[in-house]
Amino acid sequence: MNIELNKIAGAGLSTLLVVMSLNMIAGIVFAPHKPAVPGYDLPSEEPAGAAGAAAPAADEPIEVRLAKADPAKGEKAVGACKACHTFEKGGANKVGPHLYGVYGRNEGSVDGFGYSAAMKGRNDKVWEADGLDHFLKGPKAYVPGTAMAFAGISKADTRADVIAYLNTLADAPKPLPKP
Ligand code: HEC
Repeated sequence: MNIELNKIAGAGLSTLLVVMSLNMIAGIVFAPHKPAVPGYDLPSEEPAGAAGAAAPAADEPIEVRLAKADPAKGEKAVGACKACHTFEKGGANKVGPHLYGVYGRNEGSVDGFGYSAAMKGRNDKVWEADGLDHFLKGPKAYVPGTAMAFAGISKADTRADVIAYLNTLADAPKPLPKP
């Protein structure tokens, strides 16, 4: 047997042996740690079973909202109405009728204002909390055919604030419904 060849083969074998044993030792030292429970739940913002979140919650009754309503907030919110309405006593009609004293006033009843037929047809009714709440939520839904080109106030609490404010615009504010 050729001594040189033997040496080369021996060197190769011992290298292989060293690599294999290193691999084994590494396997022991760095044994992969398997978690007891594979994967874990990320904390989620939605509570489990929030299927109902898709359906909009029903508004609280208007009496309940009025009990905590803030007329000062309502006064700020009616900034959106001022393009079309005046709010002060003796205020003029603009695109819409003046709103001083509207709470407790017959619907569609301001003399000299050109109401839509839809609104005029309702003047046997009186503006009170419940009707105002619905009208301000969606004027066209509540009074189909109304000339009030206003999308509505979607926030239920803001509508209550506005109604509470409207009721202050009177020589003698009406008692608001209580829960
Ligand atoms: C783009 C103009 C416009 C805006 C904005 C508007 N309104 Fe009107 N509003 C009208 C018109 C026009 C009428 C009359 C509707 C009819 O004849 O059908 C009306 C009617 C009303 C009535 C009934 C009055 C009555 O004498 O029967 C109320 C109450 C009212 N508006 C409240 C509001 C409030 C509160 C806001 C703001 C949140 C608002 N409106 C925003 C144009 C407007």
